[in-house]
Amino acid sequence: MSTKNEKIISVVGARPQFIKSAPVSHAFRKSSRYQEILVHTGQHYDKNMSETFFDELDMNPPAYNLGTGSGSHAEQTAEIMRRLEPVLLKEKPRLLIVYGDTNSTLAGALTASKLHIPIAHIESGLRSFNRMMPEEINRIVTDHISNLLFCPTKQAVLNLSSEGIKKNVFYCGDVMFDSALEFSVKSEQKSTSHNRLTVEKNGYVLATVHRAENTDNRQRLSNILHALVKVACDLPVILPLHPRTRKMIRHFALEDCLEGISVIEPLGYLDMLYYEKNASLIITDSGGIQKEAYFCRVPCVTLRDETEWVETLDAHWNVLADADSIESINEQIHATLTFPGIRLNIDEYGDGRASIKIVQEVERYLDNL
Ligand code: UD1
Ligand code: UDP
Repeated sequence: MSTKNEKIISVVGARPQFIKSAPVSHAFRKSSRYQEILVHTGQHYDKNMSETFFDELDMNPPAYNLGTGSGSHAEQTAEIMRRLEPVLLKEKPRLLIVYGDTNSTLAGALTASKLHIPIAHIESGLRSFNRMMPEEINRIVTDHISNLLFCPTKQAVLNLSSEGIKKNVFYCGDVMFDSALEFSVKSEQKSTSHNRLTVEKNGYVLATVHRAENTDNRQRLSNILHALVKVACDLPVILPLHPRTRKMIRHFALEDCLEGISVIEPLGYLDMLYYEKNASLIITDSGGIQKEAYFCRVPCVTLRDETEWVETLDAHWNVLADADSIESINEQIHATLTFPGIRLNIDEYGDGRASIKIVQEVERYLDNL
C-alpha cells in the first residue's frame, strides 16, 4: 500500500519543460498519494528563461537546483547526471518523470535507469527522423529506456510501435494544451508587456528562433533575419530573442540585420500566450510555439526542414520553410498570409486533461509494481 510519504521525482531544466510540467505538478498536488519532488537541472538559468515561469505558473520552487548551466552536449549531459545521482540515492523515488527531448531529459532518464528507478517519459514518441538534431537522439534513447510512455499524438504511438515499443504506451493528449487552456484567461488579465509595445491586435507578426541548425549556421541565420526584416516593411515584427540566438547574432556580426524588427527579451509565458493569440502570423522554429499557434488558431511558418507535429501541417495551420533559401522563407510567409483554403481542426492534442490522465496511469503502474 502506498502512502503519501512515497516520492516521485520530476526532472526539468529548460524553458519548455517548466511549461509542460506545470499542469502535471498541479495534478500531483491534488493527488494525495505521492509527493512530487521537482528537480531543476539548471540547464536554463537566466531569470527570464527559468524563475519567471515558476512564479507565473503557480509552481512550487524546485526542491533541488543542480545549477548545471551551459556547456557542450557531453559536458552538460554528464554534469547533470553527476549532480542528479546523489539526489536520487538520497530521495529514493518510486519513479522519475522526464519531459520532452532536451539534454536534461536524456540525463535524467539515463541516471534513473542505471539506478533501476522506473521512468515515465512525457511527450514520448515524437520523431523528426533527422538524427542530426540533438533532440532526436535524446528522444530515441529516452523512449527506449522508459517504462511508461505518454504520447501527445496518435502518430507518436505509431512511431513507438514501429520501433518495437508497445508496452505501457498511452495516448493521453498534449500537456502543453493543458497549460495553454489553464493559463489562457490569466494571460488576458495578467499579461503586461503588451502595454509597452504599440502593436495592433491581429496586426503584427510574432517570431522566435533558437534551434541549433538555424542559429549555428551563419547563412541560415542571416536568411531568417533578412526575411523578418522584409516582413517588417509591411507588418510590425516582434522577436523575443533566445539567449542562444543573441549570442550567435553577435558571434556572426549580424546585428545590422535586425533593422526594423522589435527585438525584445524572452517573454514570460503569460505574455507569450497573449502575443501568440493576437498575432496575424507566427514565424518560429520552436516545437512548442508551432502547436500554440494552432491552439490560438494563428497560422504558422516553421523555419525547419521537418517537424514532429505533422498534424499541424495536414490541417494547413502550419507550413515548413527551408531556411537555406531566403526565397523559400519569403514565399511561405506570403503564401500563409494570403492562404485561400480552409484550415481544419485537429482533435489529436486532447481535451486539456492529459496531465490528470498521466497522474492516474502513474499511480496505477506503481500500484501494480
Ligand atoms: C535547449 C534544448 C532545446 C530546446 C531549448 C528550449 C538541448 C540539446 N536543447 O536548447 O531542445 O528547444 O532548450 O529553449 O537540450 N543560455 C543563456 N542563458 C540561459 C540558457 C542558455 O545565456 O538561461 C545560452 C548559453 O550561451 C548556452 C546557449 O544559450 O550555451 C544554449 O543553451 P542550451 O541549454 O545548451 O540549449 P538551447 O539552445 O537553450
Ligand atoms: N516561450 C515563452 N517566452 C518566449 C518564448 C517561448 O514563454 O519568449 C514559451 C512558449 O510559449 C512555449 C515554450 O516557451 O510554451 C517553447 O519553448 P522553446 O521555444 O524555448 O522550446 P521548444 O518548444 O522548441 O523546445
